[in-house]
Amino acid sequence: MNSEINRYIAVSTKIETKDLDWEEAKRVGLTDDERFVLTYFSDIESQTIRYLRTLLQMRIALRPSVAAFLTTWNYEEFFHGYELANLLAVCGHPLEDDRVERVQKRARVNEWLEAMFAPLLSRIFASQFPAVYLSFGAIQEMTTLRGYEHLRNYTQNPVLRTLCDRIAKQERRHFAWYFNHARELLEQSQGARLLARKLLEFNWVPVGAGVKTPAEVTRLFTILFPGQSGHKLVHEVDTKMGTLPGLEGIRLMEPYFARVGAL
Ligand SMILES: [Fe+2]
Ligand SMILES: [Fe+2]
Repeated sequence: MNSEINRYIAVSTKIETKDLDWEEAKRVGLTDDERFVLTYFSDIESQTIRYLRTLLQMRIALRPSVAAFLTTWNYEEFFHGYELANLLAVCGHPLEDDRVERVQKRARVNEWLEAMFAPLLSRIFASQFPAVYLSFGAIQEMTTLRGYEHLRNYTQNPVLRTLCDRIAKQERRHFAWYFNHARELLEQSQGARLLARKLLEFNWVPVGAGVKTPAEVTRLFTILFPGQSGHKLVHEVDTKMGTLPGLEGIRLMEPYFARVGAL
């Protein structure tokens, strides 16, 4: 088996939670803002499987190293959502039992369009489309990672802090995988570079925007990245994405959050 696969398997795990002091978590509780953020995060983590479904329709998913990553990645993401929901419940704010289905139903038109068009586009542009999808993955993983890092710094709840640290460690690996593989594929094809740029500029929305209202997306952003940290974040993410081949100078985060009035 190749060493890349061995590496994923060696590091992939469900985040550890048995050692956490849940009584202390309950005693400290959650603020209204934290409750909002955790519900949002739990909802989007639980929707990862939708993204996987699209990826699995691409030939690239059958490459053994990609298949190994996608399997371990989805396993890890599932437990992020699961453990955040668990923390909400411990602190007296359980999510509804049918939460995942309810959120699924809120998927907006663009999500349905994506579900319909992504397979079509991926057949028409079979060799270019994986680069596009992995570029989308890279920006979503990076913003998610920064979200957990900021939540970790501002929460007073020790269990939430530890959960954020453990989740962020995995998000860092996810981001690295998407980013590095997107770069590799973008380097190989001019068509992929053109398509990635066009589709990102035309179609990209922040994590969760497909199932959350614009007001919810804005609220999440301003809780996690108030004031100057918001400016810093959008600049950092856009700059990083701009280092990918074909995406030089791209601006995604900054115009979006300026438009919704969050900056
Ligand atoms: Fe996650
Ligand atoms: Fe992730």
